[in-house]
Amino acid sequence: MRFFTSVALLSIATAVTASDHELQPFGTAPIPAASLPTSFPPVDTQRSGVIEAIRNTLALYPFAIDGKNFAALSNVFAADAVANYSAPLNVLTPLSTIESVLEASTACVTTQHHFGTQLIDPLSPSVAESITYYTASHFGTGNQTGQVAYAYGQYQDTWNRQHDGSWRIVHRNLVYMGPIIGNQAVFLC
Ligand SMILES: *[C@@H]1O[C@H](CO)[C@@H](O)[C@H](O)[C@H]1NC(C)=O
Ligand SMILES: *[C@@H]1O[C@H](CO)[C@@H](O)[C@H](O)[C@H]1NC(C)=O
Repeated sequence: MRFFTSVALLSIATAVTASDHELQPFGTAPIPAASLPTSFPPVDTQRSGVIEAIRNTLALYPFAIDGKNFAALSNVFAADAVANYSAPLNVLTPLSTIESVLEASTACVTTQHHFGTQLIDPLSPSVAESITYYTASHFGTGNQTGQVAYAYGQYQDTWNRQHDGSWRIVHRNLVYMGPIIGNQAVFLC
């Protein structure tokens, strides 16, 4: 059910940015259930293929960080990627620096990075952008076991299609959407 809902929402997003679709904006009245199956533009499989490729590629980011397999970030970022992780990590480049700094900054914690609201927009055959809300939970270890620090933010990513057809992030802005909540002592050990 959630899958179909997100497909419908992505169809709306697609229609807003694609010039070849005419989208009738929703009015204030509910849409009759019988109209829903014909209320959305056809799925553009070329765009959908790119969107799904990027979505699955980005899913590897939490797997790499939370699995502490930082070398696997090479499946997400281009080798010359530039990532602004905001203070205190700031601008990290190239990929080897992104890997080593993220590894060091999470050395004392175990983590869960959880994605939420997301829009992926292919801009051209070789360039796309995505915005992804995330919540990162940082769990203390050792004498900080049971303590946690939560970060709320969004990743603003620019993607380039690679020669082999895969997609990699070439630029990232991490934008915080609230203060770090919880016990920041979890980061110290
Ligand atoms: C990095 O991101 C922060 C927070 O959004 C911003 O204040 C800063 O200007 C950015 N740095 C660069 C070099 O773009
Ligand atoms: C917690 O453990 C770290 C090293 O593992 C130690 O440096 C620190 O003093 C300890 N803190 C407390 C409150 O015991």
